[in-house]
Amino acid sequence: MSERKPVNVLFVCLGNICRSPSAEGVFRHAVREAGLEDKINIDSCGTGDWHVGNAPDDRARQKALQRGIDISGLRARQFHASDLERFDYILVMDRQNLADVRDIWRQNGGTEPELFLNYGRSNHDEVPDPYYGGDKGFETVLDLIEDASEGLLDVIRRHQA
Ligand code: 4NP
Repeated sequence: MSERKPVNVLFVCLGNICRSPSAEGVFRHAVREAGLEDKINIDSCGTGDWHVGNAPDDRARQKALQRGIDISGLRARQFHASDLERFDYILVMDRQNLADVRDIWRQNGGTEPELFLNYGRSNHDEVPDPYYGGDKGFETVLDLIEDASEGLLDVIRRHQA
């Protein structure tokens, strides 16, 4: 990869305690394994403010750890309009996140948000909210996120090459 400015990637969900911190952890892991940690900056946030400052949900932490990914150090923050300027990729988990961030984007411009699973090969286009469900939902979240993370890394590599 050439000496370019780092690429800035933001994952967005509702609470920033289940899906987007899982995406941050999984993608960070993939980026580190590819030796690209100096080239790609990664963050996550939520459209809501209920969990600001909180660590990821215990179930999300446990399920990620079972796959060798430690997300326990992450803390929730809320999406801010300034993120539209700071990040090159704004990747949302579901259509409600997309509608919420798009409202702010329409007023502010910057990077247009897109569904994260556009980068995946599954036939899903949303990462389902696992908060009120069981353990299986958290496994599904990780499966979908791992798949889309591979596709995203491929696209960023190609654009940076
Ligand atoms: P997340 O999951 O958006 O994947 O972090 C949720 C976390 C909390 C709530 C909803 C979804 N909540 O309603 O508090």
